Amino acid sequence: MTTALLLGQTLTFSDDPFLNGPEAARHESKGAVYIENGKIAAVGTADALLKTHPTAPRHDYGNALISPGFIDAHAHYPQTAMIASWGKRLIDWLNTYTFPEESRFGDPAFAKNAAETCLDLMLSNGTTTVCSFCTIHPESVEALFAAAQTRGMRVLGGKTCMDRNAPETLRDTAQSAYDESKAMLTRWHGVDRLTYAITPRFAPTSTPEQLAALGALWAEHPDCPMQTHLSEQREEIAWVHDLFPNARDYLDVYESFGLLGEKGLYGHAIHLTDRERARLLEVKASLIHCPTSNSFIGSGLFDMAGLKAEGHKIGLATDIGGGSSFSMLRTMAAAYEIAQLRGTALHPAQLWWLATTGSAHALGLGNTIGTLKPGIEADLIVVNLASTPAIAQRAIRANDFWEALFPTIMMGDDRAIQATWVNGQPTQRA
Ligand code: GUN
Ligand code: ZN
Repeated sequence: MTTALLLGQTLTFSDDPFLNGPEAARHESKGAVYIENGKIAAVGTADALLKTHPTAPRHDYGNALISPGFIDAHAHYPQTAMIASWGKRLIDWLNTYTFPEESRFGDPAFAKNAAETCLDLMLSNGTTTVCSFCTIHPESVEALFAAAQTRGMRVLGGKTCMDRNAPETLRDTAQSAYDESKAMLTRWHGVDRLTYAITPRFAPTSTPEQLAALGALWAEHPDCPMQTHLSEQREEIAWVHDLFPNARDYLDVYESFGLLGEKGLYGHAIHLTDRERARLLEVKASLIHCPTSNSFIGSGLFDMAGLKAEGHKIGLATDIGGGSSFSMLRTMAAAYEIAQLRGTALHPAQLWWLATTGSAHALGLGNTIGTLKPGIEADLIVVNLASTPAIAQRAIRANDFWEALFPTIMMGDDRAIQATWVNGQPTQRA
């Protein structure tokens, strides 16, 4: 039996702090997490767990914070190398930067290198699970899942399907999208810690035939998530209206082809109509907030407070490489700033919940990852709350735990991630 006892401050959630405020958080200033065979077996005070597990190998992290690993609910690993590309809005950005880069992923060696680079950057930023788009190439799916498997990570991903409005080299067909997605799903879904996500890129790059084929595939495999984009920019919404004139709205396009459901993951979801909001809530779909991307590409201000108050399931994500940072700390900071621009100050407990428990729930993995609780998989991070001189001098003035945490949320990056544990094992930096 492999065991470990981690000592430090601990933070987790028994409930949603958007519903119950910071009381939903569980903070222990001298806490401990006991791991057995890759799973959390006990959480409590250091005193108590040192008594019950006196012989377990100890990792004393002092005053650092032990938290569930971050969960990035929407990213494009193939865009790793073109992050921070200048000066375009969504459609131009896709055509100028994204599609040429994604065209290279038919080469297995190129895809392997990108997948490994991306996952290693994520781990060093404290992200232990990512839900990623791949490219149209099955090779890109192989590369992501193989790299995740080597690292023992829980990863979700799928072949990004497109059969129009993309360069010739990046187009599949309705039939090949169905066949290749099904082949990858059969090969990888449920293997080790991997989940296959059926992945139409977004309505403008699929014909009705392709959307219908992927809707049929989802109906055959309802336990798989389905990920796509929804209402990110106004120009995009107008384009969807031209391409699908009979649809009531953007969401209706997906629904009419069987692509709306509880396991649906809808990236961005900024400019929603009242009908779309009501329908997404009714089917219990997940909305994925991508704040650094939404400001970087100039998309708009996600209505976190309004959507949470209505009861929506919401996850948080980097949206690499439309997003401008691999860090979920930086992503929380951007979520805070965007909410401020809409008149709401998100509490640090709400931000941390979004990046851990909230994203786990949005991905349908709330009973598997994202909290410190017995039976949950031991993907953990150790966060130094004084990782730079600027953060340290602010944190030292804090009057309570939340004030001590907030400077790391607003100013922290990979330097704050002192250790990352995956599946009960320390990664190299731990
Ligand atoms: N919409 C369709 N494809 C993409 C993408 O790759 N990134 C972002 N941000 N939006 C998209
Ligand atoms: Zn995206």
